[in-house]
Amino acid sequence: MDKLIIEGGVPLTGVVEVSGSKNAALPILFASILLTEPVVFHNVPDLRDIRTTIALLLLLGCDCGYENRKARVVAPGVLHPEAPYDLVRTMRASVLCLGPLLARIGQARVALPGGCSIGARPVDQHLKGFEQMGAHFDLEEGYIIGRCRKLRGAHISFDLPTVGGTENLLMAAVLAEGETILENAAREPEVVDLANFLLSCGARIEGHGTSCIHITGVSSLHGTEYTVMPDRIEAATFLVAAGITGGELLARSCPFAELETVILKLRDMGMEITATADGVLAKCARPLRGVDITTQPYPGFPTDVQAQIMAIMCLAEGASIVQESIFENRFMHVLELMRMGAQIKITGRTALVRGVKRLAGAPVMASDLRASASLVLAGLAARGTTEVRRIYHLDRGYERIENKLNAVGARIRREKE
Ligand code: UD1
Repeated sequence: MDKLIIEGGVPLTGVVEVSGSKNAALPILFASILLTEPVVFHNVPDLRDIRTTIALLLLLGCDCGYENRKARVVAPGVLHPEAPYDLVRTMRASVLCLGPLLARIGQARVALPGGCSIGARPVDQHLKGFEQMGAHFDLEEGYIIGRCRKLRGAHISFDLPTVGGTENLLMAAVLAEGETILENAAREPEVVDLANFLLSCGARIEGHGTSCIHITGVSSLHGTEYTVMPDRIEAATFLVAAGITGGELLARSCPFAELETVILKLRDMGMEITATADGVLAKCARPLRGVDITTQPYPGFPTDVQAQIMAIMCLAEGASIVQESIFENRFMHVLELMRMGAQIKITGRTALVRGVKRLAGAPVMASDLRASASLVLAGLAARGTTEVRRIYHLDRGYERIENKLNAVGARIRREKE
């Protein structure tokens, strides 16, 4: 197991490249099961979750290649329908093979993901939607066994906007018979990127990016080349890195519109953030002020940036309030930040952060992906040395973060624990 050792207190300055989006690449890679012609993807980030996805596609019988951020997938006529527990437990998003498998071969055997450190995260909305399209499910030995004849279009209204549920049903609907309407659908840019990929393969989709998506099933899709969108969550992490260290960073390829809610909050805190031809320039010359945020589905404040903005709130003047409305257990970073001198009080799903003058380096433990990023950010700003342990979480979603940050002045080294 690796750990990161961070010598804090250096303002970061320079240009940092934003990678392809993990959360867009995962469903898009699974969507390649929907066709038998080859698909080539560019800007696929080199991450542990991507390698897990490729491993799963190989187990399903696909022919896959992945090098230099370029992936190639060819799904055979006959697929093996099983996603085993060993892979699903390391990456919940494995459940995204369910829709494509049902649509392509009418059967799927996918391990039930179970809980994860940030909450229970059930898949009931996915299953309810597939049932409306004609699928039947049994639970056997911890596996969801799904069967169907040809899926048929349906009018599906989600009880809550679920990103994975919308993606799974969208993938299934493009090959279903007739029309599908997804109501109360997730509007996240990653759902839009998946729809754009499917459109480039010949799917018929309208309304992606709104809460009502119309899909008209087609009999088959054709091969294509597709470039995955930049990672707005990684980009947001870099903007916070500029602010928390009092530096100036140009996040190249950083999407501006998709990060507007985050950018407005960081500006409220006192950062200067501007769109440039190359990306987004973020700097922080003044003292930071506290702000309040509530996480919401897109276009609201993303839950995946909650932990990172909390790190910068710890050093802002005055109080900040964070309400986590998406996941029930997403404050795992709080106790670790407090070990570094942060003053935070949690009541239910609300955290009250009182800004302190400085944080002090300490050994801390990463508990999930975005919590790990929050601890790295705190370490960059803290006086002294911070050791972030269990960074395998970080490696799931950040492409060589220490190399990217060291290139703009950070002092981070990776060591074996
Ligand atoms: C995706 C992202 C994750 C992000 C989350 C919310 C990927 C690979 N992961 O996760 O980084 O934090 O969106 O933006 O894209 N829910 C149900 N029943 C369901 C499905 C979801 O109750 O069938 C609940 C969840 O427990 C959660 C909420 O809905 O409270 C949102 O979850 P969802 O949008 O589905 O998140 P994921 O797709 O798992």
